Amino acid sequence: MARITASVYTSHVPAIGAALDLGKTQEAYWQPVFKGYDFSKQWMKDHKPDVIFLVFNDHATAFSLEMIPTFAIGTAAEYQPADEGWGPRPVPKVYGHPELASHIAQSVIQQDFDLTIVNKMDVDHGLTVPLSLMCGQPEAWPCPVIPFAVNVVQYPVPSGRRCYNLGKAIRKAVDSFDKDLNVQIWGTGGMSHQLQGPRAGLINKAFDNAFLDKLIDNPEAAADIPHIDYVREAGSEGIELVMWLIARGAMDDVAGGKPPKVAHRFYHVPASNTAVGHLILENT
Ligand code: DHB
Ligand code: FE
Repeated sequence: MARITASVYTSHVPAIGAALDLGKTQEAYWQPVFKGYDFSKQWMKDHKPDVIFLVFNDHATAFSLEMIPTFAIGTAAEYQPADEGWGPRPVPKVYGHPELASHIAQSVIQQDFDLTIVNKMDVDHGLTVPLSLMCGQPEAWPCPVIPFAVNVVQYPVPSGRRCYNLGKAIRKAVDSFDKDLNVQIWGTGGMSHQLQGPRAGLINKAFDNAFLDKLIDNPEAAADIPHIDYVREAGSEGIELVMWLIARGAMDDVAGGKPPKVAHRFYHVPASNTAVGHLILENT
């Protein structure tokens, strides 16, 4: 059977992708950011998954304001890195896993979550920057990736509680796939940041670290955070953090199993306009 073995959480700042692509990782500004992922790159080699289920948000790249799915699952065989205005990032093409993705779509929709099925989509920094942070600059990504896009850009956005419950449904779906696959689920975006308006530049270290604590030890409490608290405390783009709850809801302890092992925890400010947070949780 397929099994979720671990969850990974990380910010997705586009300037991090540019720093990597332009060979700036050893510059004084960027060095501490990338250092936080040295452990993670080795961990990825030691815990190579068969498939990554990657929860991310599109930034008006694949979906414009003409069409805004709340939850969209990629069932395609491949996805091109998007041109976000400066040309596509020089990163490998993303290969999907249509068979597992279609199974998850079937199961999760039957569990009463309305997913949009996406058979063609370009993937922006929301997806490619987490892959770069965790995998470095390989010739090819280490395994197929199922992109799962969440609307956190245009109101109304889904609640943290709904995302957490969706994670539980995704876990059930993976558990019922009858091939032996080691699946990781990644929740990306965040942490505190606001890109526009009078509060542009907002960072809230206390909120971010309390969120990391809750996510590890008390995910129920994290799922209770109302969306207005994210916006008030973590800034308008801090709402990206609800995506982390999808990954957390898919872990063993939420389904009555053992608490996860914290393999890695990292937090750093600043990276562009964003507080960078990162966790690796292993099912034991
Ligand atoms: C930045 C952060 C984001 O999440 C994003 O989507 C774009 C820009 C930033 O920090 O600059
Ligand atoms: Fe973003």
